[in-house]
Amino acid sequence: MAAIIADYRARGVDHGDVLSLLLAARDEDGRPLAERELADQVATLVLAGAETTSSALAWSLRLVAEHPEVERKLHAELDAGPAGEPARWQHLAQLPYTAQVVSEALRLYPPAWAVSRTTTRPLELGGARLPAGALVVCCLYLLQRRPELFPDPTRFDPDRFAPGAVHRDAYLPFGLGATRCPGDRFGTVEATLALATIAGRWRLRPAAEGPVRPQPRLVLSPGPQPMTPTDRINGPAG
Ligand code: HEM
Repeated sequence: MAAIIADYRARGVDHGDVLSLLLAARDEDGRPLAERELADQVATLVLAGAETTSSALAWSLRLVAEHPEVERKLHAELDAGPAGEPARWQHLAQLPYTAQVVSEALRLYPPAWAVSRTTTRPLELGGARLPAGALVVCCLYLLQRRPELFPDPTRFDPDRFAPGAVHRDAYLPFGLGATRCPGDRFGTVEATLALATIAGRWRLRPAAEGPVRPQPRLVLSPGPQPMTPTDRINGPAG
């Protein structure tokens, strides 16, 4: 982080990105962010933004490979849209089903599978009395698999997110409230365009047999997922 920040300072140009904004930021007394604060902000963005989004993409690709009907609908949309070209922002309006696939992968396997809150005063929650300062952990993975909220909850069904479907407070892959993810749209768009680009050109199949065991570390990851690609545009030899 320090090297990246030093490089930005040395060049002194506005790169039009978040780090340039942070370097230019001044508080009410005209002071810039301290070196440590800058590094912490950059580290937070990289940590919060990279593995979450890559995990969403990895789950999406795996789930698509395991559900031929979903794969067929996805390929039909991609063939009519970017048609084998890298998907770009301008294609987004043509990719509603691709976005639904990402949304449904985020429901079944939320990368941030648990979020925490600290109570600021004593309270009763779900029948339990909690003192001030208690750590409350909310497991989004379990919440998003509650059958009364999502019927047949373990089924991978991107049509749950068809236009007009409302899930609101039951669907929380980006959290809720004051610390809700500020990168929600960025992450969703990035995963949608990456899925469109990869699945538009390649049909992927898991290289190994057997179910995936989700790995609940900081991010809920499928772990290494070797996949065998077949070129959909140029044929097997392409
Ligand atoms: C699919 C991708 C992503 C998922 C699933 C995700 C999920 C989350 C969740 C659940 C939280 C915590 C919310 C809470 O405690 O209520 C969070 C916070 C955060 N996310 Fe994301 N995120 C994603 C992508 C991104 C991206 C791309 C960025 C930045 C470019 C980002 C930046 C952050 C930051 C800075 C926070 C901390 C917010 C705070 O504490 O005030 N996230 N994210």
